[in-house]
Amino acid sequence: MSDTPKGLKKGLTNYGDQGFSLFLRKAFIKGAGYTDDALDRPVIGITNTGSSYNPCHGNMPQLLEAVKRGIMLAGGLPMDFPTISVHESFSAPTSMYLRNLMSMDTEELVRAQPMDAVVLIGGCDKTVPAQLMGAASAGIPAIQLITGSMLTGSHRGERVGACTDCRRYWGKYRADEIDDQEIADVNNQLVASVGTCSVMGTASTMACVAEALGMTVPGGASPPAVTADRIRIAEQTGAQAVELARQGLTIDKILTPAAFENALRVLLAIGGSTNGIVHLTAIAGRMGIDIDLAGLDRLGRETPVLLDLKPSGQHYMEDFHHAGGMATLLRELKPLLRLEALTVTGRTLGEEIERAGAGFKQDVVRSFDRPIYPQGGLAVLRGNLAPGGAIIKQSAADPKLMEHEGRAVVFENGADLAARIDSDDLDVTADDILVLKNIGPKGAPGMPEAGYIQIPRKLARAGVKDIVRVSDGRMSGTAFGTIVLHVTPEAAVGGPLAHVRNGDRIRLSVKDREIALMVSDEELAKRAAENPVVEPTAERGYRKLFLQTVTQADQGVDFDFLRAVKTTGKAPEDR
Ligand code: FES
Repeated sequence: MSDTPKGLKKGLTNYGDQGFSLFLRKAFIKGAGYTDDALDRPVIGITNTGSSYNPCHGNMPQLLEAVKRGIMLAGGLPMDFPTISVHESFSAPTSMYLRNLMSMDTEELVRAQPMDAVVLIGGCDKTVPAQLMGAASAGIPAIQLITGSMLTGSHRGERVGACTDCRRYWGKYRADEIDDQEIADVNNQLVASVGTCSVMGTASTMACVAEALGMTVPGGASPPAVTADRIRIAEQTGAQAVELARQGLTIDKILTPAAFENALRVLLAIGGSTNGIVHLTAIAGRMGIDIDLAGLDRLGRETPVLLDLKPSGQHYMEDFHHAGGMATLLRELKPLLRLEALTVTGRTLGEEIERAGAGFKQDVVRSFDRPIYPQGGLAVLRGNLAPGGAIIKQSAADPKLMEHEGRAVVFENGADLAARIDSDDLDVTADDILVLKNIGPKGAPGMPEAGYIQIPRKLARAGVKDIVRVSDGRMSGTAFGTIVLHVTPEAAVGGPLAHVRNGDRIRLSVKDREIALMVSDEELAKRAAENPVVEPTAERGYRKLFLQTVTQADQGVDFDFLRAVKTTGKAPEDR
């Protein structure tokens, strides 16, 4: 038997007398009516991320009830506690700015409060990454519960869902294809229930990735928020958390290089959000594991997109669930997976795939010989414009633009873009390449999802649906187009992007994995000397901490002091 303190005896507040500390703790909790019998059980913490500002977590009361039921049925004591909750549309300047703060909140509360395991309840884009980052650093047994996707709505006979259709309808409105009444009508239908975005955006991506990492119970990724299946998953999650506590199955046994390799495979095969790679890099960094971008690209060349979900395909998350969810996908991907990776059930991923049994006929997850896209959804680009790498979601890009050379039309920052993009005087054609600077980790700050630069209004009205766009920012996983993102190093720290000028030629070759600025090194050095970049700073507060410590996209945009002290491995591992 280990002497490590358990349950309420863990992490006693320091009054200089341990016995007194426990005595006092119990006296206080008994004020809430607990018995000694209850307080002697394994204690399972539950992060309560319910918030009126977060409708993606709007089923939190039902989830909490079910998780607690599962914990108590398994003989544990549930203790829920609030943490920060971050919603995409209610976080200024951008939710990414707050992800690391949420991860710190989660880590420190998991560490500070006595619990033998923790159930992390998250869903909206940044919440699951923040929770996994925090839990990885806290190091105790942990299990992820996803809030689940929203239902789809119906607009004038057409099925719609956030947020790919939000962008599509807004694009139609900007192009004067629909009127004020119709845009108001569809606004009522795009989000038909509580829950996360119904397409393969970042939330759905991270749900699938969390299951691929082995951090959820089997089948935990796909049930919609308002279904009985989601509530059953919550109950199972609670019960499994007690088992994790009993076995002492800490998170470092789950989050291994093999698990991250599986997560990268799944990210590629689902046509997942480009944000997934930033978040996985940050989570892996907390375990001392480097995500190797060259290795990711290697996986991408041999992993086809199999999931037919918007924005790369046709369906929505609820269809994926009806098609068997992750079990169907993992069964198809099995020859490419690291089957020995351990999951929160105490069984390996390979064992879970076997337990899921045979599949059935469905049309949402394609077979290997009939993929949606022959390669993985994401490709890693390099070149003199992005020495540290850049990302393109090739499965959501226009094939005609993936080998393209054009004239740069440059916007210095978000404000410059907003001021000029819709001007009739803007000198732009459909063959040009739009370049947006200063929306990287430090530039905006927080690397907002502004990389999905809207088509200039005069081109949109002329029927242009796609144009090559390049920035150091991110884009929503629900967006689509030939869009180069995460250019590293960013403009705000003096990356080559800072020195692109109107009229420069840029070449994009997805085939060669290249993004090149056709300007000589001498000329770039001259421009840098003439216009040196001054990095942004802040005088106080969280913004100061953020600007001083945030890393670039290839490091996960985490704070440098939050990464594991030692590097222990990389994913994917060399073959
Ligand atoms: Fe929360 Fe899309 S806004 S998942």
